[in-house]
Amino acid sequence: MVRAIACLLLLAAAVQAKHEQYEGHFLYQVWGPSEGIANLEGHLDILSATPAYRSESKKLEALVRLSPEEKVEWLPFFEKHQMGYKLVSDNLARILQNEEFENSRARNATDQNSTITWDAYYDSNTINKYLDEVGAKYPEIVTVINAGLSYEGRQIKYVRISTTRFENLRKPVIVIDAAAHAREWVTPPVALYIIQQLVERSEKDLTDLIDWIIIPMANPDGYEYSMNEDRLWRKTRSKSHNGSEECPGVDMNRNFAFSWGTVAANSNPCSIIYEGPAVFSEPETRVIRDAVLSQLDRTYLYISLHSFGNMLLYAWGNGSLPSNALSVHYAGIQMASAIDKLKLEKAPIYIVGNAANVLYFTTGTSRDWTRLVGIPLTYTMELPGYEYQFMVPPTYISQIITESWAGIVAGARYVLSL
Ligand SMILES: *[C@@H]1O[C@H](CO)[C@@H](O)[C@H](O)[C@H]1NC(C)=O
Ligand SMILES: *[C@@H]1O[C@H](CO)[C@@H](O)[C@H](O)[C@H]1NC(C)=O
Ligand SMILES: *[C@@H]1O[C@H](CO)[C@@H](O)[C@H](O)[C@H]1NC(C)=O
Ligand SMILES: *[C@@H]1O[C@H](CO)[C@@H](O)[C@H](O)[C@H]1NC(C)=O
Ligand SMILES: [Zn+2]
Repeated sequence: MVRAIACLLLLAAAVQAKHEQYEGHFLYQVWGPSEGIANLEGHLDILSATPAYRSESKKLEALVRLSPEEKVEWLPFFEKHQMGYKLVSDNLARILQNEEFENSRARNATDQNSTITWDAYYDSNTINKYLDEVGAKYPEIVTVINAGLSYEGRQIKYVRISTTRFENLRKPVIVIDAAAHAREWVTPPVALYIIQQLVERSEKDLTDLIDWIIIPMANPDGYEYSMNEDRLWRKTRSKSHNGSEECPGVDMNRNFAFSWGTVAANSNPCSIIYEGPAVFSEPETRVIRDAVLSQLDRTYLYISLHSFGNMLLYAWGNGSLPSNALSVHYAGIQMASAIDKLKLEKAPIYIVGNAANVLYFTTGTSRDWTRLVGIPLTYTMELPGYEYQFMVPPTYISQIITESWAGIVAGARYVLSL
């Protein structure tokens, strides 16, 4: 008993040291005109945005992290610019410590005999190991591709799932990626669960009639950094740009070739939405690019998994609608309603809409680039965060993977109906 308590105290101390950079940081809900909120993204850490028609204030809202110094500077700014705000937490470090404790407990309680379970979060090596195991167990339909190295030299793997070895060029292809944003930990389990359902043929026709490319860990450097150093890390960890000594990393979802370099705020390396020194400057975004281009002619659906907000967002990030918007919207509704049927009561229903309309303007996203190069149906899918934002407790993983799979099934069936 004494030893157990000593152990707990030690653990708590270790965890505390890790998150101490956020000691005294605040979370504020801020609302106001769309341009005002969008403008914050270049200067502050925005953890999430809530569309006006879902928010309490009926305006676009952002959840922002403010250090004590930032608080002094920004609260008067909000007031001066007719933006409302409300304190959500005055102790971010405590939230992170609790989260880490829950994660550690969940990991310890899992079945140690299997590489992964759906009850905990795993590091990038374990995820790679799981992919290799799936490849070894289902060699007739799974090919594990070692697609390239991350900036820090980690292997980025993806799987190709096909009953015809990718040789039947009449089959449609679906591409899914996860963890482009490092801190959005619930996205890899969704991608891994999709792989598992496909190889186990839970919906046999979807494996028989469609070829799949799934990239469950697009940003391993950032993900490891989020696990081990800074829970709120979002970008890659590259140091190839000017200013990278102080501010390493690039926001992968601003690094794609769509209206890249057109917004001044995105060129600041210290911004969490830094677009990088050039399009596709990141080895991690090049892996997605090349995977997408490898089967472009027959790829009908692309989904980038993100956390959080129960949203399926489509092109364009500049607010214009793509020429096939009706079809994009309709397919999105099919996916959303399949998910909503299974959602928890406390979760909002999925919003399906143009990304700039629902939230605000963006450039350089994978969703817009994949649409631009010709994939008809492309989405950013924001998974549920409930009241935890992207710090979703592991006890919710099974819920999220199950309902999201239902959405993917609906999307795949829509593709087959075309
Ligand atoms: C989980 O297991 C590790 C290693 O045995 C231990 O150090 C840690 O305290 C455990 N975590 C919890 C929350 O029990
Ligand atoms: C794990 O494997 C061992 C040895 O094969 C077995 O005895 C044990 O029951 C397994 N545990 C679980 C939870 O499956
Ligand atoms: C790097 O930044 C410095 C100082 O801001 C600037 O003078 C220089 O031109 C930049 N170099 C490149 C390659 O952008
Ligand atoms: C938005 O981007 C699309 C695709 O490049 C383009 O066709 C459209 O004209 C742009 N709209 C605006 C308002 O710039
Ligand atoms: Zn994201």
